[in-house]
Amino acid sequence: MNDAPGDHILRVADITRPLEFDTARPLEVEVGCGKGRFLTARAKANPDCDFLGIERMLGRVRLFDGKCRRGGIDNAKVLRLEALYTFHYLLPAHGVRTVYVFFPDPWPKRKHRSHRLFGPLFLNALWKRLEIGGKIEFATDHEEYFGVVKDCFAADGRFEEVAPMERPRELWTEFETLFRGQGLAVHSAAWRSLPASDEPLAPLTVPPEAEPRQIAGR
Ligand SMILES: C[S@@+](CC[C@H](N)C(=O)[O-])C[C@H]1O[C@@H](n2cnc3c(N)ncnc32)[C@H](O)[C@@H]1O
Repeated sequence: MNDAPGDHILRVADITRPLEFDTARPLEVEVGCGKGRFLTARAKANPDCDFLGIERMLGRVRLFDGKCRRGGIDNAKVLRLEALYTFHYLLPAHGVRTVYVFFPDPWPKRKHRSHRLFGPLFLNALWKRLEIGGKIEFATDHEEYFGVVKDCFAADGRFEEVAPMERPRELWTEFETLFRGQGLAVHSAAWRSLPASDEPLAPLTVPPEAEPRQIAGR
């Protein structure tokens, strides 16, 4: 039983080594899990699966941890790390049954679009980590981004669109509860991964504009 503060926060001593999971138990992963409303409810209802949330904001990670402790949830952990890096380097190959991405930051301004999660790099890493036949569930309030994400998957022959899961109110995320309360529309879609040629992932590179700048004279 995990019940001390921080017990549900996954500590990674060496971020160059892949994470290890119990391969006898299905693994589900949520990207940008926030305070964990969805994933902790799902973990509580599915004690035979393991759940990993990935979230970069420390305050939200701590709230996720608190929810697990108060709820007596033993099968969920949260990792405070960048999602693309985690998918690219740390998750087991074809070891994840379901990935959830709910209300990812839509980066609506044109000049910020390169920050969006969905694109060829994420789809490559996603396919590599999903079990063949594993699913990705996606939801957003942002109609334009919804169209972009659907186009990304439609252009990638390694995925086929399937019906999204039914999510009753207790499986709404924090942002979703807010958006639905404001009467905003929520767009949902899901895809299943298909067998395909299993190439190694090319190393992630940092674009020149994102390289740390040299400070003159130092
Ligand atoms: C708009 S919020 C949605 C949170 C939650 N999914 C919900 O629906 O309530 C997006 C979340 O994703 C996290 N996030 C955004 N980009 C991330 C990244 N690259 N790696 C890890 N977390 C990320 C943010 O910190 C934030 O908590």
